Amino acid sequence: MQIQKLKQLISKILIKYNLNKKDAEICAKALINAELVGAPSHGVSRLKMYCERIKKKVINPKPKIKIKRVSNSVSFIDADNSIGFVAADTGIKETIKIAKKTGIAFVGIKNSGHYGLSGYYIEQAVKKNLLAFAFTNAPPAIAPHGGKKTIFGTNPICFGSPTNSKIPFIFDTSMSIINRGKIRVAAKLNKSIPKGVALDKFGKQTTNAKKALSGVQLPIAGFRGSGLAWMVDILTGVFVGSAHSGKVKDPFDDFRGPQNIGHLFIAFKNNLFVKNFKQQIKVNINRVKNIPKIKGEKIYYPGERKFFRKKLNSKKNIKIPSSIKKDLDNLLS
Ligand SMILES: NC(=O)c1ccc[n+]([C@@H]2O[C@H](COP(=O)([O-])OP(=O)(O)OC[C@H]3O[C@@H](n4cnc5c(N)ncnc54)[C@H](O)[C@@H]3O)[C@@H](O)[C@H]2O)c1
Repeated sequence: MQIQKLKQLISKILIKYNLNKKDAEICAKALINAELVGAPSHGVSRLKMYCERIKKKVINPKPKIKIKRVSNSVSFIDADNSIGFVAADTGIKETIKIAKKTGIAFVGIKNSGHYGLSGYYIEQAVKKNLLAFAFTNAPPAIAPHGGKKTIFGTNPICFGSPTNSKIPFIFDTSMSIINRGKIRVAAKLNKSIPKGVALDKFGKQTTNAKKALSGVQLPIAGFRGSGLAWMVDILTGVFVGSAHSGKVKDPFDDFRGPQNIGHLFIAFKNNLFVKNFKQQIKVNINRVKNIPKIKGEKIYYPGERKFFRKKLNSKKNIKIPSSIKKDLDNLLS
């Protein structure tokens, strides 16, 4: 489907589900971006779930988002159970505004929902010449080291930095070996998942996506990964005042109430300590990229391949699997 047409279709659906035009467009842009960067598991395939949550009154389509200035550089946002894209859009705009003014911004967001790809927001700060971090929690997927029950989300950590070119450095990774969205898509399409990324509910390795969803996902780097997931749970749950320690609701199958997800955005100017950041980042990237390479390999910095993928995909139509196209048609009818 043509990108513009798909964007209009998503907006139209969300307006039907009571979002205003501006918020519907914010969501459409974020979902289209996921498709273009090659993350369809966070793209249009999720629209049905967001609409179902609105219908069941666990996402508020007309939130009254409150921004409280805690100090010159700190804001605290109550997203009023809005769809995560709108909460995060408000959050990153506030973060950029503060950081441009004071040099550093620290913005916590509570009562939000699933916001998609962290890198999408961090890229917006990087475009304004800021370095930035994003943290968000997510529904239980990972067990703590030594445990056999999920309690931490895949809790992505994202860091972005301007570079000497227009391709930003965006390191954006889940704390699980693969993200949950990929497992959900595999389960829907009856496909298997790679070996070594998940255990079934009995603690046995599995490549069956459905069994993995009811079991546990394995963290990156063993106890270090589950430690990082725990850190994100503290920062975006306990610290920000959102759900934590296993209490974030699964957006697909827990409709007992809002997810109450928390996000934390931090951004700062690149000249806080040095005057030649842009010059030195160029030196840094060149040195790293020019080390001897394994035969047949190339060194990319995080975000580089995604940038090229998006550029290429932006010139093409977006492929929508027929089952998802059917979902979109049903949502409009
Ligand atoms: N909102 C949520 O609840 C939630 C939860 C989990 C993940 N996510 C999002 O899902 C997305 C995908 O997460 P993921 O863990 O699957 O990421 P991934 O494994 O695809 O990539 C992780 C990072 O590694 C980099 N990378 C990949 N291949 C590389 C290479 N060859 N050389 C150098 N760098 C390379 C990528 O640019 C990226 O920054 C992220 O945007 C994340 O924010 C969201």
